[in-house]
Amino acid sequence: MTEAQLAYRRPPGPDQTVTLGIDQETLATLEALQRDFGDMVSMTRPNGRLAYFVNDADEVRRILVRRHSRYHKGPGFERVKMLLGNGLIVSDGEVWRRSRTMIQPAFSRQNVHRLLTVMVECCDRRAVHWADLVARGENVNITEETSDFALELILISIFGNDYQDRILTQGENPFAFLSRDSTRDLSVVLKVRKLRELLMSIIEGRRSDQGEEQFDFLSMYLAAVDKKGQSFSNAELLDELMTLIVAGFETSANTLNWVWYLIAKHPDVEERLLQEARQVLPGVFAVNADSINSMQYTQQTLEEALRLYPPVWLFTRRAHDEDQLDDYDVPPGTDIYLSPFILHRTERYWPDPNTFDPERFARTDKASRDRPYFPFSLGPRRCLGEYFSFLEMKVHLGLLLPRFRLRLLDDKEPGLELGINLRSASDIYLQPEER
Ligand code: HEM
Repeated sequence: MTEAQLAYRRPPGPDQTVTLGIDQETLATLEALQRDFGDMVSMTRPNGRLAYFVNDADEVRRILVRRHSRYHKGPGFERVKMLLGNGLIVSDGEVWRRSRTMIQPAFSRQNVHRLLTVMVECCDRRAVHWADLVARGENVNITEETSDFALELILISIFGNDYQDRILTQGENPFAFLSRDSTRDLSVVLKVRKLRELLMSIIEGRRSDQGEEQFDFLSMYLAAVDKKGQSFSNAELLDELMTLIVAGFETSANTLNWVWYLIAKHPDVEERLLQEARQVLPGVFAVNADSINSMQYTQQTLEEALRLYPPVWLFTRRAHDEDQLDDYDVPPGTDIYLSPFILHRTERYWPDPNTFDPERFARTDKASRDRPYFPFSLGPRRCLGEYFSFLEMKVHLGLLLPRFRLRLLDDKEPGLELGINLRSASDIYLQPEER
């Protein structure tokens, strides 16, 4: 620790240096720090940098909402940067503010509603495939299915007809490796490079295309202008499209993966979901914004799944300005670690935290509103796709659950893989039956 660091009022913490990443060991380290030192912990990392682990609901809110401008995105985003360049998720300061202002209107409820038909189409394709698996007596790899569903949906939502005409014509879906390959080896670098070349040619094609107008995120991004009336350059657009693809499918896919597992494990919840789906969606014709938004129990189930398995399980920030948290000083350069996974399972906020119970999110349960809950983050950097993802997941469950029962094959709890996203450690297989 340097002299300057000693002069600050720091929360308690271990004397020895602490190594933190965004991985399995980090979860164990953070849980041990919480147990040993409480809700605010300070530590020195091996590189000498000061880090705080903040597990207090008010202080988390302060960092993400009221004092957000004093913090930038933190360490651990190297792989994300490799994929996303300087897109919305990783950018900071003025670059982020300009992009966010340009992009936010694309995510209006009205625009998202126009994508409902694409959501239905993507469910139809899964239904055909699952019926085929039933006929052949095969199990569903639900991890792969939810991933394919969410990837296809986001790609059609972004590229419209170009998905069919320019992307699927490449042979195997060139984006598929994003969900299956979490390594950082050279082959990924090469695949990302090829992907960016493909995206650039689609962007250039659209710019020169005077043909019929399409409704998709790419058109909206192309039309977006900043305060000076300037639109995105091709390089900026490329980063933002990659960001949208990566942010927009893995998170929803992982949530649906856990939800199907939880439903299979809890027949009482399944029964209530089924009743709601049958009542609200007697057929595909009934899918519209009002009907989907009225699926209250499905919403609660998704919220509860996101409490237990928040896909973004660890947020990192780096203070670029001085701050105070509780009675402690945050000198510039301090790394901050916040974990929805840990806070969502902290007993004093969430009684019996490891039990799956969608009733926690019933409208009548007022206490739940005050509990720390931030699967989509909070404040100005809150997820832009939150509404899109709830709609997508409710359409998915509302159409597929009344057609298929997916049963557990055994009692084994799936393990966790903790990377940038929280996934199941291995693919989850379920046995499908047509109802
Ligand atoms: C269950 C689904 C999802 C979850 C749990 C989720 C979670 C999050 C979280 C936690 C962040 C903030 C990360 C941080 O501050 O470090 C974020 C940002 C973002 N998400 Fe999502 N997300 C989901 C789905 C989506 C979808 C479907 C889209 C797009 C269609 C999307 C687009 C974005 C974008 C563009 C940002 C960056 C916002 C900014 O920094 O201004 N997300 N998401």
